[in-house]
Amino acid sequence: MYDTKRLDDQTAHTDGIKPECMNVRAEAKKAHLIKAGKRFEYESIAQKDYLTWQGRTEDFLKSLPKEPIFDLVVTSPPYNIGKSYEKKTALEEYLEWQKTIIDQIIPRIKTGGSICWQVGNFVEDNQIFPLDIEFAPIFKQYPLHLRNRIVWHFGHGLHTQRRFSGRYEVVLWYTKTDNAKDPYVFNLDPVRVPSKYPGKKHFKGPKAGQLSGNPLGKNPEDVWTIPNVKSNHVEKTDHPCQYPVGLIERLILALSNPNGLVFDPFSGVGSAGVAAALHGRRFWGTELMDGYAKTGTQRIQDALDGVAKYRPHDLPLYDHTQSKLSQAPDGYRSREDER
Ligand SMILES: C[S@@+](CC[C@H](N)C(=O)[O-])C[C@H]1O[C@@H](n2cnc3c(N)ncnc32)[C@H](O)[C@@H]1O
Repeated sequence: MYDTKRLDDQTAHTDGIKPECMNVRAEAKKAHLIKAGKRFEYESIAQKDYLTWQGRTEDFLKSLPKEPIFDLVVTSPPYNIGKSYEKKTALEEYLEWQKTIIDQIIPRIKTGGSICWQVGNFVEDNQIFPLDIEFAPIFKQYPLHLRNRIVWHFGHGLHTQRRFSGRYEVVLWYTKTDNAKDPYVFNLDPVRVPSKYPGKKHFKGPKAGQLSGNPLGKNPEDVWTIPNVKSNHVEKTDHPCQYPVGLIERLILALSNPNGLVFDPFSGVGSAGVAAALHGRRFWGTELMDGYAKTGTQRIQDALDGVAKYRPHDLPLYDHTQSKLSQAPDGYRSREDER
């Protein structure tokens, strides 16, 4: 079912797809692609479980009823850094534009729902503007509750010459409601990861001598190391800035329930849709570019059909020291020199 040919040394870990991720479903589900320009009536899409709407998310959102529809909104917006799908503008102008979209989204999130905005840096004149810092005052204008500022750490990227090379981005996770009044969805068990010391025992008190950890593992904490999608990652498409399915998989498992509706306003090649489809959540995405919308729809269909290639969120990281490329050639600084 999966192409299990070994990839090159650097990403050999990405082909270790676990059997439980091969989601073969009894009923046939279809990923729909709707092109903007067609007249759009909410009733025509309301029953669609998997939808990519190709056009401006602003237009899509305006056509929806202003009522709670989404269980989880998760996205990585354009960062205003001059990629092919965006026009770089002044930071203030970019943030104003983003606010108009967030304004449209918030009333459409259900009680108990969440919104996750995944961002990196805007860069100008070799100066960085971490976008989570820029977005926080925008989100503060709404009655939302910041639950985590998740640091997504990854291992590969460009090396910078005049500052330290950037190796993390951030996910701002807000809930619509306060737990005391209206509980928000937070499913910890499906995203637990192996404990560091599962054999640890209580050393005093009535439970002394008994194992003290959770057999399902520990809370994954708020710093997540998940490989980014570089050229030889199993999920790589022609999109320049995909987020890995594993990153969104963890959010979807924890912050939504089966059959919930996940929305990604900047859905790119549908990575969030793949994660949703893999775990029985419904998904709507909006994407400006025709080619990405098509690829995304196909990837979601592959996930529904049980043939999507992806790297699960909890797959152990590849031990790069096993690669022959990690051996220092003569004259190069090596790890052994430091011992
Ligand atoms: C950072 S990428 C998101 C990639 C996505 N997370 C994935 O994994 O494929 C941002 C996407 O937003 C799209 N985009 C830009 N402006 C848009 C708009 N007004 N409405 C909808 N999509 C837009 C771009 O074409 C781009 O694919």
